[in-house]
Amino acid sequence: MSNNWKKNFSNVALSSKPSPVRELLKVIRQPGMISFAGGMPAPEVFPAEQFHEGSEKLRTDAPLLLQYGTTEGYEPLREFLSKWTAPRMGREVGLDEMLLTTGSQQALDLLGWAMLDPGDVVITEDPTYMAALNTFRNHGAQFASVPMDSEGMMVSELPPLIERLRASGKKPKFIYTIINFQNPAGATTTVERRKELVDIAARYDLTIFEDDPYGYVRFDGEHLPSVFSFDKSGNTLYAGSFSKILSPGVRIGWVSGAKEIIRQMAIFKQTTDLCSSPITQVLTHEYCRKGYLDAHLPSIIKNYREKRDAMEASFEKHLAPLGVTWVKPQGGFFYWINTGAIDSDELAKRAIEKKVAILPGAPFCVDPEAGKHAARINYTFSNPDVIEEGVSRLAQAIQEMRIPA
Ligand SMILES: Cc1ncc(COP(=O)(O)O)c(C=O)c1O
Repeated sequence: MSNNWKKNFSNVALSSKPSPVRELLKVIRQPGMISFAGGMPAPEVFPAEQFHEGSEKLRTDAPLLLQYGTTEGYEPLREFLSKWTAPRMGREVGLDEMLLTTGSQQALDLLGWAMLDPGDVVITEDPTYMAALNTFRNHGAQFASVPMDSEGMMVSELPPLIERLRASGKKPKFIYTIINFQNPAGATTTVERRKELVDIAARYDLTIFEDDPYGYVRFDGEHLPSVFSFDKSGNTLYAGSFSKILSPGVRIGWVSGAKEIIRQMAIFKQTTDLCSSPITQVLTHEYCRKGYLDAHLPSIIKNYREKRDAMEASFEKHLAPLGVTWVKPQGGFFYWINTGAIDSDELAKRAIEKKVAILPGAPFCVDPEAGKHAARINYTFSNPDVIEEGVSRLAQAIQEMRIPA
């Protein structure tokens, strides 16, 4: 039987690429493999017992849980989130200013539907979240990027970039930023830069999309106010997620912003999935309503802080002598290491042979050259002894690749 599918594929399908992370997940299931590649929560932090308590609702409230839900999302959960996020957002957002999504990943896609025409430009940090690039690319986006340093996005580079883009006839539509413990770079944007970002966006009449799945996973220092809280013009959208603070399996995220854009995103959600699962929305609300989310967060933070510290110690021991450099993240899931002269694509392949999986930097970068000597390393998934073993294997791989002086 001949396979004729491809000849009828859309142009977007023909130019789409599988995610290296999701492809790698197949390899990391091999026995003996240590994975620093994914962005997964630790299995031991899932609050199985407390979450299970709500499951009684499956019997008692079947007509609600087993039925279609509203596209905008389960109202009591939106009410909870509006209050729970208020300290970070500067106020309680209205119910018509919030949409629940099937993971915050869906918020990226809905924004693409609502704002992007083919050829429009999205301004990102470099590096940035790979699946955001791929999602916006599906909507025909082109990218322009601003580098990061240890203080987050280098926002002073934005005005000349925007002016260059406009002078060449391009249409920048929004600035995409991961403001806390950035994926993959680990850096957090300072308060000064957050304010500056809002000023620049207002001056150039651009939207900001503030993606913040890691913000509540802070190990050191104080929580910082969101970009949304500084923006009095209503140009900022804020996306949050339960994936890193409760469970990615519930597939619940939220996006808050001006009601016009939230409404438009809801209209696209009507055709994307009609609604997110009422089962997980109701169970998640039960969990939150009882105070379990607040009670449980410190134990997640403690678990990940210990692992971050274990990785820091292993890096000092094994990688620092090899010339590898990094910035210690104050929260979140990732280290971003600079591998010096070593090509990180080659290193990732060599590391797999040593049974340790890392992600090379290039797929995270708008300018692939920028990621050639960098790699993302996750610390939340493995236990401290496994972290030590994995980093020592990585060091062996680097050692073997080092060019003799
Ligand atoms: C920066 C960023 N945004 C969005 C997502 C999507 O998360 P989810 O769809 O699980 O809420 C992730 C997941 O890793 C992420 O790192």
